[in-house]
Amino acid sequence: MALVTTTEMFKKAYDGGYAIGAFNVNNMEIVQAITEACREENAPVILQVSKGARAYANHTYLVKLVEAAAIECPNIPIALHLDHGDSFETCKSCIDGGFTSVMIDASSHSFEENIAITKRVVEYAHDHGVVVEAELGSLAGIEDEVNVSAEAASYTRPEEVEEFVARTGCDSLAIAIGTSHGAYKFTPEQCTLNEQGILVPPALRFDVLEEITKKLPGFPIVLHGSSSVPQNYVAMVNAHGGKMPNAIGVPEEQLRKAAGLSVCKINIDSDLRLAMTGTIREYFDAHPDHFDPRQYLKPARNNIKEMVRHKLINVLGCAGKA
Ligand code: G3H
Ligand code: 13P
Ligand code: ZN
Repeated sequence: MALVTTTEMFKKAYDGGYAIGAFNVNNMEIVQAITEACREENAPVILQVSKGARAYANHTYLVKLVEAAAIECPNIPIALHLDHGDSFETCKSCIDGGFTSVMIDASSHSFEENIAITKRVVEYAHDHGVVVEAELGSLAGIEDEVNVSAEAASYTRPEEVEEFVARTGCDSLAIAIGTSHGAYKFTPEQCTLNEQGILVPPALRFDVLEEITKKLPGFPIVLHGSSSVPQNYVAMVNAHGGKMPNAIGVPEEQLRKAAGLSVCKINIDSDLRLAMTGTIREYFDAHPDHFDPRQYLKPARNNIKEMVRHKLINVLGCAGKA
């Protein structure tokens, strides 16, 4: 099957109460791990490429890796998406260069500027059969030392979404309801301790999501910053020379709940990085004499694959939906 847009995927996901996984890809092993899990679980998938990925691996290599995955997995729909496009020019280059979906992230601009930049991308993308994700509101990150009240101010404002979507013509909307990028999504102070002594992060703002859904019935919503930061991989990193204290992600049950509502696309990158790094660190500790990259990349690829499989079945709910 040729690469597809997300239009059909999102419609089915919205109606079916599940979400499509949007996984960031940076090299061959990551592309293979994700798509092999999706092929075996018969799941549609979005492979997304950031500006940093294009700088690291080169646009053409990434497109060809994803096209190779589509040949190897002919029975599942695969979309190739630009993650966090920062300008019309970056989006145009991906639209012209084989992507089926782009994100224009002009959320740091004013409302009017965000509309103007997004609208320009939408016009060009739609003329070329490509769909567009836009963003309203900005994701907090404790790396940015955003305090709680500043964070609250950056949630997407439900009263703005109808006008934004109507005036831009975007096909999906990324919103801010309490997720953030990276492996340190919440400070320990923001969390509570459960009976097992495990830190439980504050709940996502489902009230904001519900308000947005009421304003935009049937419209696909996107959640960025949705890694769960599995504690077994944090422990694996820390047990083998790494140092990632207090790495905390979004609990899986909350993502499952969002997937059952209007959230049709859930972005995951940090978890893939953690699985890869934890596995390689463990491997190096156990085999200090090995130096063939295939020896340590193989278990890393396998652990990413199993993590993705778990998400498809237990978190996103998209297994069997291809
Ligand atoms: O949203 C950010 C993604 O995790 C991509 O990260 O820009 O380091 O490739 P990156
Ligand atoms: P994580 O850092 O939570 O994996 O988020 C990835 C993301 O939103 C990519 O756009
Ligand atoms: Zn993101």
